[in-house]
Amino acid sequence: MSTRASQKAARFTESVIREMTRLANLHGAVNLSQGFPDFPAPVEVKQAAREAIAGDVNQYAITWGAKTLRDAIARKFQQLYGVPVDPEREVTVTCGSTEAMIATLLAVLDPGDEVIVFEPFYENYGPDAILSGAIPRFVKLRPPLWSFDPEDLKRAFTEKTRAIVINTPNNPTGKVFTREELTLIAELVLAHDALAITDEIYEHILYDGAVHVPMAALPGMAERTITINGMSKTYSVTGWRVGWAIAPPLLTGAIRKVHDFLTVGAAAPLQQAGALALALPEAYYSDLAAAYARRRERLLPVLERAGFRVHRPNGAYYVMTEIDGLGWDDDVEFARYLVEKIGVAVVPGSSFYADPKDGSRQVRFAFCKRDETLDEAERRLFKLRPR
Ligand SMILES: Cc1ncc(COP(=O)(O)O)c(C=O)c1O
Repeated sequence: MSTRASQKAARFTESVIREMTRLANLHGAVNLSQGFPDFPAPVEVKQAAREAIAGDVNQYAITWGAKTLRDAIARKFQQLYGVPVDPEREVTVTCGSTEAMIATLLAVLDPGDEVIVFEPFYENYGPDAILSGAIPRFVKLRPPLWSFDPEDLKRAFTEKTRAIVINTPNNPTGKVFTREELTLIAELVLAHDALAITDEIYEHILYDGAVHVPMAALPGMAERTITINGMSKTYSVTGWRVGWAIAPPLLTGAIRKVHDFLTVGAAAPLQQAGALALALPEAYYSDLAAAYARRRERLLPVLERAGFRVHRPNGAYYVMTEIDGLGWDDDVEFARYLVEKIGVAVVPGSSFYADPKDGSRQVRFAFCKRDETLDEAERRLFKLRPR
């Protein structure tokens, strides 16, 4: 029938996270579901965008990214992590890190290839794997530390493994992968001649002295790592849709081709503003992390008092919680109750697992929100009672 969806499109549902935002708007709920800040972006970054438009930076940038932004991306990565990056041959600017991820998977995976994904995972990775025709193999991260069993990981690598997706600091768990864990992953990647695809979009949002170790900085890994990042989280501009992929030249060539035919390019004036943003002084990043640490300290006790069992995050701006203490064992039912009757929107845990059962007693809160928003969430959660 001509009106049917493709088999690929039929194999995944629409985003639960974005659906929760729509429900939050419908019910006038405090939205602690989707990970976007409700506070202003830095003044100087917004000013740079205004100036770029006023200066008529209004036409297509070079498809793989404006030179000023690519230079800034390469310089920042090298300065922070000591990994040299050639902005001419190793950087592709995309429409958000979302496009960087799908363009990368389409560029490096063939149908039938296997891609290893840690679970719970950021929900996009499932559909991304399907769209690229690859077979995802999941390795569990287990609370309280969200660590993985090295034996599980070794078993997940097969002769068909082409890549492993790592997200550190991690959404939804708040885990920051340690150097030891990353070293073990790197050894397996090297032994299987595979690729590491690392989503490092929360690299600056770290707590309690946690340190971000980029996979590309480990010995032998720069040649086989695609590092994905973007402006969304670090500069509080999730709606600008500017992201990038750093990869060795051969892979970058493939990523650039896919990117060109997917979107041509990211918004030119916002790329210009990105170049300024990436040159902000160190203090900007330490202030950002400190502000998120305060928000974490604000929300976590509220959740504990409300009856949630809380897994304290080490990085990113989410907290995974267990709802069994509140008498619920169905995360979707609970999230609906919470948004409709209590007026707080969260993301059901099942959206982060291949088998929904695995997340049926969890929900995720986002705390990238103003004090007033968190205060209002506290007032509303005060009404929550165990069933
Ligand atoms: C782990 C992770 N990667 C990527 C994204 C999307 O980022 P972008 O706005 O750059 O597409 C998000 C947003 O929540 C995320 O949590």
